[in-house]
Amino acid sequence: MKHITIDLKNALSFIDQNNFKNYDKLVKNHDEQLLKKTGKGNDFLGWINLPQTISKEHLLEINDTAKHLAAISEYIVVIGIGGSYLGAKAVLEALTGQFDHLKHKNKNPQILFAGHNLSEDYHYELLDFLQDKKYSIIVISKSGTTTEPAIAFRLLRKDLETRLGKQEASKRIVAITDASIGALRNMADQENYKSFIIDDDIGGRYSVLSPVGLLPIACAGYNIEELIAGAKSMLDISQQDSFDENPVYQYAAIRHALYSENKTTEILANYDPRLTFISEWWKQLFGESEGKENKGIFPASVSFTTDLHSMGQYIQEGLRNIFETVISIEKTKFNIQIPHDEDNFDKLNFLAGKPIDFVNKMAELGTTLAHIDGNVPNIKIILPEISEWYIGELIYLFEKSCAISGYLLGINPFDQPGVEAYKKNMFALLEKPGFEEETKKIRKRLN
Ligand code: PA5
Repeated sequence: MKHITIDLKNALSFIDQNNFKNYDKLVKNHDEQLLKKTGKGNDFLGWINLPQTISKEHLLEINDTAKHLAAISEYIVVIGIGGSYLGAKAVLEALTGQFDHLKHKNKNPQILFAGHNLSEDYHYELLDFLQDKKYSIIVISKSGTTTEPAIAFRLLRKDLETRLGKQEASKRIVAITDASIGALRNMADQENYKSFIIDDDIGGRYSVLSPVGLLPIACAGYNIEELIAGAKSMLDISQQDSFDENPVYQYAAIRHALYSENKTTEILANYDPRLTFISEWWKQLFGESEGKENKGIFPASVSFTTDLHSMGQYIQEGLRNIFETVISIEKTKFNIQIPHDEDNFDKLNFLAGKPIDFVNKMAELGTTLAHIDGNVPNIKIILPEISEWYIGELIYLFEKSCAISGYLLGINPFDQPGVEAYKKNMFALLEKPGFEEETKKIRKRLN
């Protein structure tokens, strides 16, 4: 069976290759810190062995809950923000056909998202859309107190309760939260919601392979066992001692080597729009993990060839502090060839009979070469195809290399102290009880 591989040849020429050999030992040491739990943030390492520790019974319980929700719902609204929504959204976007949401007869319920923004219009439109639909709610919050999902949950819960009564509504609500603390845990216990626990040692952005990601993915009809098996396969690969056969080590090492050469922005590029949200999830994973102590690579993303017509100019000739990581898909799911045309007005007959993916691959190669010529180092991550298995491999590859990358930078990749700053100001401005002093201070500042 094929696995995800990584190709560094177009990045190595931008760094001191003799120095790069030292990374072999460095990354192994940091991996050992992770495995022996001796590094920073070592109380947040529950995700490392998750693909092999998650039990069959647990997966069965998730699948059974998904079946129950699917049987009673046309739509399932997943409420969550950050790590409590991006993983599921990324996997669903990658696996779902681009126009499936427009098909009238879908076998599985469609998954909608809420609680990831504070737009009044978004919430109005969502409620308006749902008013004549059968729907259920999966509400996800580890802390159980995050403002955005709490507001969305209050709105949707009220809507369900008004329509069905409290008891019937409670059968359509599943909560995923902490085992014992937080408002959501209290509510779930009191209202008798079916609930799943987010383990204490799994942080939001590392939680996609827990019920946080798995339940919404299962509700949409995808094979969560395959996703976990793929992640487990990358876990095994990541334990290979040989640096050259370990894409996790290689990715962490080359990122840091490029960062040391002042390549401080990484652009994750894809050539398939289905991967756009994989990039959004990756941005949170690396951005929230590494951006600390005035350090860290800035994670950006593009979808090609679309963005070659918008961001291509900057990448080719802008500030030379960027490197590019391309997720390259070897095999498409479907085949479609460019037709022959008698008139040939568009002069495309030289491509007649060629699959569209051939053109896409030549665009990818041409772009890579152009960007290398423009001094943009290129890392290539090769997926044999888009499937549950390979998305599972990709998730684990990114999670583990992110943790090692964080240790290479000398920071704690598992906390996010900076996220609190905006919340403090927002609560002060909203005059939240308990924030009286902050309210006074912020008012003074604004006057
Ligand atoms: O990765 C993280 O820890 C964050 O992005 C959280 O997932 C996000 O802030 C949501 O938090 P919670 O699940 O507590 O509502």
